[in-house]
Amino acid sequence: MEMELGEVLLTEEQIKGRVRELAQEISRDYQGMNPVLVGILKGGFVFLADLARNLTIPVQFDFIAVSSYGLATASSGVVRILKDLDTDVSGRHVLLVEDIVDTGLTLNYLVKNIKARKPASVEVCALLLKVSQQKVPVQVKYQGFWIPPVFVVGYGLDAGEQFRQLPYVAALKGQAE
Ligand code: PRP
Repeated sequence: MEMELGEVLLTEEQIKGRVRELAQEISRDYQGMNPVLVGILKGGFVFLADLARNLTIPVQFDFIAVSSYGLATASSGVVRILKDLDTDVSGRHVLLVEDIVDTGLTLNYLVKNIKARKPASVEVCALLLKVSQQKVPVQVKYQGFWIPPVFVVGYGLDAGEQFRQLPYVAALKGQAE
């Protein structure tokens, strides 16, 4: 299937500015706490990489790979851990870094999963949040942008593993959700 990009929802400049602001907030809130920033793969890798370079405090990084969508463009609601953390996060301050919150199923599951490991704290930083799509509650302390409920790609987000490398966020043509 040929996939064509539609409207650009967030430009590279808009994203850069917001990522800088979020990094400032995180640097201020986690001063002296040596948090573990957990990138949620695959989609979260671009956001985490840019966030990382704007932080002004010591942090550590780890990654967790989950999949809920597979190659489809709609949520299956099934969360699978494909790669777990290497770090023992008990007693640590954990910040989950995600590209997008859609139904909230992925983060709802991950927050519970991380809490069970007895960390000192768990918070979430998400670049994109879809309006009126949450099926389960997720507390997102650091929020980038609220976007309409359309299928988006770029800046880590894919459609059938394409478009992750785009420096902006765009809709896909002819994709309502
Ligand atoms: C996407 C995205 C989030 C999740 C959000 O991941 O990166 O992890 O879906 O959706 P939800 O709020 O409805 O759970 P996906 O499963 O597509 O994997 P990927 O990051 O490897 O592309």
